[in-house]
Amino acid sequence: MLSYKSILLYSSLVLQAQATVLQFTNPNICCALLHSKFPGHSKVFSSLAPQYDDLTFYWTPTAQVLPRCVFTPHNTNDVKKAVKLFARRNCQFAVRSGGHSYNPGWAGIKRGVLISLGNMNHTSYSTHTGLATVEGGSRWTDVYGALLPYNVTVLGGRNSDLGVGGYLTGGGISFYANKEGWAADNIASVEIVLGNGTVINADRTHHSDLLRSIKGGSNNFGIITKFRLMTVDATGIFNGWYMRYPLASTDAYLAAAESYCNGGVDTDTKSHIIFSASIVGTNPMTNVALMAYDGVLDPLSPPTVLEPFFDGTVANATFQWFAPNGTIKSATDGLRDAQGSGNRYTMTTVSIQVELSLLKKLRAAWLEMTTHNLRITPGFLVQFAFQPVGATWIAASEAKGGNSMGITEPLAVMWIQLRWDSKDDDNTMLQYSRRLIRRFERIASRAGKLANFRYLNYGDRFHKDDIIPSYGSGSVTRLQNTKALYDPQNVFGRLVPGGFKIPE
Ligand SMILES: Cc1cc2nc3c(=O)[nH]c(=O)nc-3n(C[C@H](O)[C@H](O)[C@H](O)COP(=O)(O)OP(=O)(O)OC[C@H]3O[C@@H](n4cnc5c(N)ncnc54)[C@H](O)[C@@H]3O)c2cc1C
Ligand SMILES: *[C@@H]1O[C@H](CO)[C@@H](O)[C@H](O)[C@H]1NC(C)=O
Ligand SMILES: *[C@@H]1O[C@H](CO)[C@@H](O)[C@H](O)[C@H]1NC(C)=O
Ligand SMILES: *[C@@H]1O[C@H](CO)[C@@H](O)[C@H](O)[C@H]1NC(C)=O
Ligand SMILES: *[C@@H]1O[C@H](CO)[C@@H](O)[C@H](O)[C@H]1NC(C)=O
Ligand SMILES: *[C@@H]1O[C@H](CO)[C@@H](O)[C@H](O)[C@H]1NC(C)=O
Repeated sequence: MLSYKSILLYSSLVLQAQATVLQFTNPNICCALLHSKFPGHSKVFSSLAPQYDDLTFYWTPTAQVLPRCVFTPHNTNDVKKAVKLFARRNCQFAVRSGGHSYNPGWAGIKRGVLISLGNMNHTSYSTHTGLATVEGGSRWTDVYGALLPYNVTVLGGRNSDLGVGGYLTGGGISFYANKEGWAADNIASVEIVLGNGTVINADRTHHSDLLRSIKGGSNNFGIITKFRLMTVDATGIFNGWYMRYPLASTDAYLAAAESYCNGGVDTDTKSHIIFSASIVGTNPMTNVALMAYDGVLDPLSPPTVLEPFFDGTVANATFQWFAPNGTIKSATDGLRDAQGSGNRYTMTTVSIQVELSLLKKLRAAWLEMTTHNLRITPGFLVQFAFQPVGATWIAASEAKGGNSMGITEPLAVMWIQLRWDSKDDDNTMLQYSRRLIRRFERIASRAGKLANFRYLNYGDRFHKDDIIPSYGSGSVTRLQNTKALYDPQNVFGRLVPGGFKIPE
């Protein structure tokens, strides 16, 4: 067995010869060089280290790939030194925050070096600026927990286990989105390590192009070590609950959903609804709406915008709290616990302009393909879901400086989430999701209601090169210009193979 030391002894001999032969340096050598820069036992972990299994655990095992070694920086300077090394030596690497991406090799890398930011998880709050400073490897549960004593919170995951890094750079749909825009819109500034190892701060006056580009630009520009986030008041009660409707109510349910999506949401942006239909295990299909309200909810006298969902317009609902009289932390911890981890999953997405007849067609296509093509097992879940991105949301994005995502008209983000038990079914499930979303595109396109946008954080590996182009040519040009300025050597394209890339 080779130790890092013995690898280093011969590495200098082979490095030069290798650089001319291979495109990338052998990861054993990259790990050895890293280890020599960070000696001791606390920052570089090989597959033999006891910590390796934890460091390479992903929310879903379908996303897991095994790196040659894992680097766990403790601060920005550590990140800077590593990126410099990788750029100079042509070492391939990946960047991981919470590890909630559904795609293998997005926040992981087969054989190369994984930079796992989990130790950089500190949150602080300035009563003076009203901004929270959140390190790039934090999880939302810790962020919310640190801020609640100040009676404030930030826009973050609806499942509190998500990491901040992937979520924020991919857009981020939070419970406050209908009022405040994407979570990314609420980033006041970032500290970022660029491809040449330089650390800069980008805000709306300095490097404003970079700040705007990372809002939806994912891991294309650098490693974000700190996010400074605008806060919102969290003094009051936050409520979350599910409504389940029988199949006989489907048409009324979809009609109420259409009306909420097409303007209803803007009449009360404290409300939040994810509309879905799910088949869970061998149970029959149900219509489920996940609802939340940033305020008190009395089910006997709900806010006006939610009345159709309560008063019998959509008949025979069953009501179930997940956060009665709670906080943003209890609600998102509740969803974290309900969603668990360790199951096989995939997710795929498309966006539409909402229209009742289209919703019905898409739902029927989903149901038909699911019941005819999939083996329903106890661990099975297939969810068909959508939620509006309304006019107030879009205006909030614009008012806060804009982002990369190029959305100008209201739409609904729609997704299919699949869960299954056995690795043997991976291929079937992935192919099914791929075929289904293509069918959705055709149906929506024929109705003249297909929106260009594809939400990055719900994107799948089959759309590796389609997500960022879906932002539109104006956004793509801006992203390319930013890329040329801040990562002229294309370190985050060439050496970081995972993730959704900007077309060249
Ligand atoms: C159970 C579950 C619930 C979810 N709920 C929501 C939700 O409510 N709203 C929503 O919008 N999305 C949701 N998502 C999707 C989620 O936003 C994405 O999975 C997101 O990538 C998670 O962030 P992460 O930090 O855990 O990602 P990771 O898997 O760690 O990283 C994802 C990508 O971001 C890059 N990246 C990570 N950190 C950094 C950094 N600091 N600098 C540069 N690049 C970085 C990685 O290289 C990788 O390509 C959910 C996902 C799951 C699995
Ligand atoms: C946060 O980071 C510290 C070290 O900086 C570490 O001990 C702790 O385990 C981390 N917390 C989580 C939840 O990863
Ligand atoms: C937070 O709000 C509660 C209830 O309104 C109040 O008692 C407490 O003093 C507030 N805390 C801070 C730090 O403002
Ligand atoms: C609602 O429930 C009542 C009583 O069980 C039943 O008579 C009615 O048909 C149901 N309506 C729908 C739309 O399911
Ligand atoms: C929530 O709080 C309100 C007002 O304080 C109270 O009337 C209600 O019963 C509480 N609801 C639950 C589910 O605890
Ligand atoms: C690193 O890249 C940035 C952005 O391209 C540039 O401004 C800076 O001068 C570079 N630093 C070094 C040391 O080359």
